[in-house]
Amino acid sequence: RRASQDELKKQVGFKAVDDYVKSGTVIGLGTGSTAAFAVERVGEKLKSGELKDIIAIPTSIRTKEQAEGLGIPLATLDTHSDLDVAIDGADEVDPALNLVKGGGGALFREKIVEMCAKKFIVIVDESKLCDGLGPGFPVPVEIVPFCHEHTMRQIAALPALAGCEPVLRLGNVANNQKDGDEPAITDNGNYIVDLKFTSPIKDPVAAGEQLKATVGVVDHGLFTGMTTACIVAGSDGIIVKEA
Ligand code: A5P
Repeated sequence: RRASQDELKKQVGFKAVDDYVKSGTVIGLGTGSTAAFAVERVGEKLKSGELKDIIAIPTSIRTKEQAEGLGIPLATLDTHSDLDVAIDGADEVDPALNLVKGGGGALFREKIVEMCAKKFIVIVDESKLCDGLGPGFPVPVEIVPFCHEHTMRQIAALPALAGCEPVLRLGNVANNQKDGDEPAITDNGNYIVDLKFTSPIKDPVAAGEQLKATVGVVDHGLFTGMTTACIVAGSDGIIVKEA
């Protein structure tokens, strides 16, 4: 019997916690359907006593609520900015372990937290692997609502993003399929623009730098040079790719 996609997500979520989370550490908890399994595992191991003295920093309101429900002790970067490890899913992973993240709209909190982790462990099923970032999954960008149409035109004109089509996310922020008429609002009160590409982004680092330098952009879903290891589950089992 072939494992379902949900079973694959659970396998990598559990393995990341079993292999990388030690008692007495500060950990970052990601957002999304794969990261939710890692959060579940942390809760389970705290309850059984297998893990002790964990402090967790959540990357979204959704993850915070899940962790609270499981009794996981929480803090923020304001008091704990030195994380031992952070675990999160991704929407796309390229061969250099650069990522597209933010399909669930949590990219800003994910990035600010995961930048503070000594180890950043990415957990995916094999459907997330790609040869080049962009065409397989739109790149989410968080922008401030003020003059958002202007900011979207500025983004479309960036040389490293040539050919992208910026689409304002509508409806539920956690779902990048159009499912409403009003702009989706992030946990930080901002909008998300999904950049659609028809060919791979040639230089994701330059693309990220140009986005970041655009006034009105809060942050973007290109996570380059951050991954320590990526745990991938597929029909042939689990593999760990190290950066
Ligand atoms: C949340 O904003 C995203 O970055 C998620 O981490 C990413 O979309 C992966 O989510 P799934 O595990 O649900 O595919």
